[in-house]
Amino acid sequence: MFNIDKNEKIVVTAALPYANGELHLGHIRSTYLPADIYTRFLCSLGYDAIYVCASDAHGTPILFGAEQAGQQPEDYVRYWHDEHERVLGELGVRFDIFYTTHSPENIELSQNFFTMLYKEGYIYKKETERFYCPKCERFLPDRFVKGICPYCGAEDQYSDSCEQCGRTYDQKEVKDPHCAVCGAAPILKKSEHYFFQLTKFKDFLTDYLKNNKNLQDEVKNYVLNWLDDLRDWDITRDMTWGVPIPGEKDKVLYVWFDAPIGYLSSLKKLRPDDWQDYKTMIHFIGKDIVYHHYLFWPSMLSKAWHVLPKAMPVRGFLRLEGKKFSKSRNWYISIEDGIKYFGADYLRFYITLTTPYSAEDGNFSLKEFQERINSELVGNVGNFVYRVLSFISSRFEGTVPEGEPDQELWKEVKKLTDEATQLMKEIKLKRALEKILAISALGNQYFQKNKPWSLVKSDKEADEQAAANVLYNAAGLVRTLGILLEPFCPFTAAELKKQLPFEGSYVDAGEPLLKSAKLGSIKPLFKTFDDEEIEKIRGKVLEK
Ligand code: 2FM
Ligand code: ZN
Repeated sequence: MFNIDKNEKIVVTAALPYANGELHLGHIRSTYLPADIYTRFLCSLGYDAIYVCASDAHGTPILFGAEQAGQQPEDYVRYWHDEHERVLGELGVRFDIFYTTHSPENIELSQNFFTMLYKEGYIYKKETERFYCPKCERFLPDRFVKGICPYCGAEDQYSDSCEQCGRTYDQKEVKDPHCAVCGAAPILKKSEHYFFQLTKFKDFLTDYLKNNKNLQDEVKNYVLNWLDDLRDWDITRDMTWGVPIPGEKDKVLYVWFDAPIGYLSSLKKLRPDDWQDYKTMIHFIGKDIVYHHYLFWPSMLSKAWHVLPKAMPVRGFLRLEGKKFSKSRNWYISIEDGIKYFGADYLRFYITLTTPYSAEDGNFSLKEFQERINSELVGNVGNFVYRVLSFISSRFEGTVPEGEPDQELWKEVKKLTDEATQLMKEIKLKRALEKILAISALGNQYFQKNKPWSLVKSDKEADEQAAANVLYNAAGLVRTLGILLEPFCPFTAAELKKQLPFEGSYVDAGEPLLKSAKLGSIKPLFKTFDDEEIEKIRGKVLEK
């Protein structure tokens, strides 16, 4: 079972977004959101955890995008870096650093990795033939060539990997190649390239995959199959945008060589003095980049860093109303639109509640969003919190009364809180959230069963005290929920704290520790989505 200890120094990473376009809800489902929730949780538990991310600034995705936009790659990258930082911040994704792979730290560290691996004989040089466009008069790495995937036959794929089947390959294997800029058929031209000897790592990778209990079995199983046809990996590109290869002219490292090193170099930027102590690396990724993270990255690390990823949680793609997200077909919801029409915490909540710890694909359905929000977030959590706080506000002059902890209630709350905490440690965020919802449901039952409204009507002193007890316990439960929900819905948790000031963390969330707090002004935490609004949103985000 996956576990994590308090003495570990943890660096949580989210796959580095290419600085070349809008991010959408699929990206947050697999990567930015679960990594954010997980890091917030670890910090609440008092662990030393840092959340690192950066723009993936190199490679043909960037160069191609910059050329299409008529910009210099530096300017293009800067623009998208700032946009991503802004929009993810608005979603409540709280990186400790959001840096860039086009940084002095990353260039230096990538060159060090290269030199070390070269000296130790894991990288060799070989003459190759590469595609060259006679019309554009240049080499055509990766995205500058399109064609048919040699493995699964998918059309219109880039020449380094297939989005359909996830395999990476040599561009010469691509069927029906053509220049992505001008459409011309490329010719082959000689060029010396460096290769990383992935084939030497078969035994190492087999051991790593089989012995690391923290990697998902479903992912391991298909990655283990790939080990039978490992090929040496071409890490050179004939272009000038990227990390220069030491001692070469007009050759840079393949973007997938320097991108994951960006995890380490960003950490170095953040913690120049003790970055090397952060040895527990947890990489959150989507299933399209499993090949790079499960094969290339551990192999590189094993010789150049001597620390291996502890876990690499993989989540599947997100469909939209049952159909694949596609920017080119305009079938997607950007994070920007998501926040505008649904609200950051509503999105965070719905996406987490519908995303198991699995590489299975998921679906975003507006109808389901409406149902889940209205019944769980509003009907369960919002309703409980509002009933309790408005009751205290009107009947106890806005101050949480003194009372006695209800032992039976808190025994159950403690049990559910411990279970939620354990699930969080195991990165089973959906199941943890379901436990938290069960605590809220328990609160609703407790309030309903004890009927404080009929107790306060009575003029007996004992009843008055009984009512105070109910509200004391119920308000304590609101605190519990506020703490437990903070990683999932941070904006709401902050708002709740204004209404009911409380302290505490995941360490003591299951205890009745609320002191006699003075309430702020009370209003419902959430709003419902009615049919009309959902249809309006559908028109805006899907029929745009
Ligand atoms: O696939 C992508 O979007 C890449 N930019 C992810 C890089 S992750 C890491 F290795 F840097
Ligand atoms: Zn061309």
